[in-house]
Amino acid sequence: MWYSISCFLLMVVVLNVGNGEPLVPALFIFGDSIVDMGNNNDRYTVVKATFPPYGRDFENHSPTGRFCNGKLATDFTAQTLGFTSYPPPYFNLKEKGSNLLNGANFASAGCGYYDSTSKLYNLYALGARRIGVPTLPPMGCLPASITLFGFSSNKCVTRLNNDAINFNVKLNTISQNLKNILPELNLVLLDIYQPLYDLVTKYSENGFFEARKACCGSGLLELAILCNKTVIGTCVNASQYSGMDFIQQRQQTRFWPII
Ligand SMILES: *[C@@H]1O[C@H](CO)[C@@H](O)[C@H](O)[C@H]1NC(C)=O
Ligand SMILES: *[C@@H]1O[C@H](CO)[C@@H](O)[C@H](O)[C@H]1NC(C)=O
Repeated sequence: MWYSISCFLLMVVVLNVGNGEPLVPALFIFGDSIVDMGNNNDRYTVVKATFPPYGRDFENHSPTGRFCNGKLATDFTAQTLGFTSYPPPYFNLKEKGSNLLNGANFASAGCGYYDSTSKLYNLYALGARRIGVPTLPPMGCLPASITLFGFSSNKCVTRLNNDAINFNVKLNTISQNLKNILPELNLVLLDIYQPLYDLVTKYSENGFFEARKACCGSGLLELAILCNKTVIGTCVNASQYSGMDFIQQRQQTRFWPII
């Protein structure tokens, strides 16, 4: 289950040197299912979101490969920066050449990553000067985490949350070090841990009805291929769920300003 819920996203914005809009010339997105906009659609993997209920609240109410009922946080970011379209999925064979001049999405659900220091350095060497790196979210608060590792408790799994906190501390050290050695690098660590933790633990204050269960099926475990509307059904209104497995658009709207 971990493949599509290990959330790491890295977003790169290259500084605008020209005039006019959008605010930056190009937006590049790296990460996993949290920001995958369809890179897995034609790939040999079970980690796909090419069927309902994914995309049901998106444009045309159809699935795009986003692991969400609607827009992702990075879709809101693209719009806010003034882009009129979203960065295309790089592995989508149609997207080549000049289509990629405004940016691209390299995120692939289920991916992991190696050494973030060298990856960030490589991006810098290629010309990226504005880089936003979100922290890990509270992994122990995912409905699937609680189901698998919660020992019948309905509370977030402290051990997994501590892992995320420790990772985020290291990420902070790495980004400070890089900022010290790379001139003109505008590297920002974006804390999504705390807002999501608050959203899940104080869900009713935040206007949600359910935090323990996600929108798919029983809501306790189902995601990706298991989130099959035909077989297990889905909730009526995804906006009422703050559970993080079937990530939903309303939840994304709460943390996109940070990103
Ligand atoms: C969902 O379940 C239906 C009915 O069993 C099946 O035909 C369909 O292929 C499944 N979809 C996915 C994406 O697994
Ligand atoms: C879904 O739930 C949200 C949040 O409670 C609410 O604002 C919205 O009106 C609901 N949508 C429908 C179609 O009931």
